[in-house]
Amino acid sequence: MIPGLLLTNRLIQLMRKSIPKLLTILSFLILVTCGNSEKENHQSKDLMLSDSSDIKLEQIDSNLGDPSKGKRLFLQCRACHSLKRKEPHKIGPNLYNFFGRKAGSQKKYKYSSQLTESGIMWDYENLDQWLENPQALIPENKMVYVGMRNPQDREDLIAYLLKETQ
Ligand code: HEC
Repeated sequence: MIPGLLLTNRLIQLMRKSIPKLLTILSFLILVTCGNSEKENHQSKDLMLSDSSDIKLEQIDSNLGDPSKGKRLFLQCRACHSLKRKEPHKIGPNLYNFFGRKAGSQKKYKYSSQLTESGIMWDYENLDQWLENPQALIPENKMVYVGMRNPQDREDLIAYLLKETQ
């Protein structure tokens, strides 16, 4: 045998053995880095969520309706919703701290799947549409309420809701 040929044969054998190992190490590295970046994504999403709801609250504060009028309008909701922390759910969920959260986030309340799967976040716009016509915003949800047609009334009611659920 020619020593040169023997050497290249050994080299090829060595490479064949180590390539699968290298591939495993490589895919492991890729998995680890991807996993990390997913975590980072989650974190930044959470940050974005709380940031955007803070900004919203401030923006709304300056041009809000009249909460004392809203209090009277809330009589239409009171049979089904409590507002303060740790008050029990009624027919509908307790609304403490709901603003700026995903629809269907209150603990120990059995929502319809339509509501929880809507992916809606309770910002001013969505809440306004919900109060105007809940079935139009989330079809087949289980809140039995016809809707509040007057935009000024909704503004006043939202002012009251925000004040009372903080
Ligand atoms: C007859 C009872 C009833 C009345 C009246 C009612 N609601 Fe509801 N509300 C519900 C129910 C039930 C749900 C849960 C809907 C679902 O899971 O599909 C709900 C859900 C909600 C949600 C979403 C809560 C969350 O955690 O995502 C908000 C906000 C809300 N109602 C506000 C109001 C306001 C404000 C009024 C008054 C204008 C009102 N509701 C009137 C029964 C009612």
